[in-house]
Amino acid sequence: MSQTKRKPLFIGNWKMHFLPQEAEEFLDQFHASLDASVAESCDIALAPPHPLLPIVGSKLGEFGRVSLAAQNAHWEVSGAHTGEISPRLLSVLQVRYVLIGHSERRQFYGETNATTAQRLNAVLAAGMTPVLCVGETESEYRSGKSESATLEQLNAGLATVDAAMLDSLVIAYEPVWAIGTGLAATPSHAEKLHSCIRQSLCERFAERGKLPRILYGGSTKPENMQELAEVPEVDGALPGGSSLKPEVFLGLIEAGLIGFNRKSQSL
Ligand code: PGA
Repeated sequence: MSQTKRKPLFIGNWKMHFLPQEAEEFLDQFHASLDASVAESCDIALAPPHPLLPIVGSKLGEFGRVSLAAQNAHWEVSGAHTGEISPRLLSVLQVRYVLIGHSERRQFYGETNATTAQRLNAVLAAGMTPVLCVGETESEYRSGKSESATLEQLNAGLATVDAAMLDSLVIAYEPVWAIGTGLAATPSHAEKLHSCIRQSLCERFAERGKLPRILYGGSTKPENMQELAEVPEVDGALPGGSSLKPEVFLGLIEAGLIGFNRKSQSL
């Protein structure tokens, strides 16, 4: 399977932003401006805070062009887990993608490689697509450990994943030092890391290692998305800040599509 066969994917991570009315306004505006040809050229999803999933999901269901994503899921389907969210509930709410192991969860809320793997497996078992977030910290970056730190998270997160599941898996490479800092990875750094993730997937899963889309995340914006999309093995993006304004999120998607087209023409 060649690089061009993977459909570009853009997932907006709203993090802890938006009240119901703000979310509805965003969606109305986004939908009004989303061109049919753009929507057909890529997959688009939005990950709102959990309480907004039903409102956002019902609007997206009406529009029919954008999928629903969640920001996390627990590994059990029910039980005494205050503050956690069941993968079964997410699937009933028509969630398609679930972020797993986001660096903010790892850094500030004690999530480990082991719990990340458990959550990822539960999302797969519930029939949704996990988006496994991996990426080095600033100190790992400075000490030349970007590849080893990223691959350690990748391998731990996928420890028990079967090759048969690879078509319902997305990886997001998000260097921690680039998240929310305005300082995105350079195309050459992104190329190095995306290639090493792909190589590791192919070493373990052979041809099926080419199936998962690998998104880049960390200070993506309309101004840098085209050059990042041109990078080999970058299959989409996971913007945070740039997904909070409809025109900015759309601008980022459009810039990305220009980059993906240029890349596929040069292959
Ligand atoms: P950012 O966040 O685009 O605001 O840097 C990305 C992310 O955390 O997924």
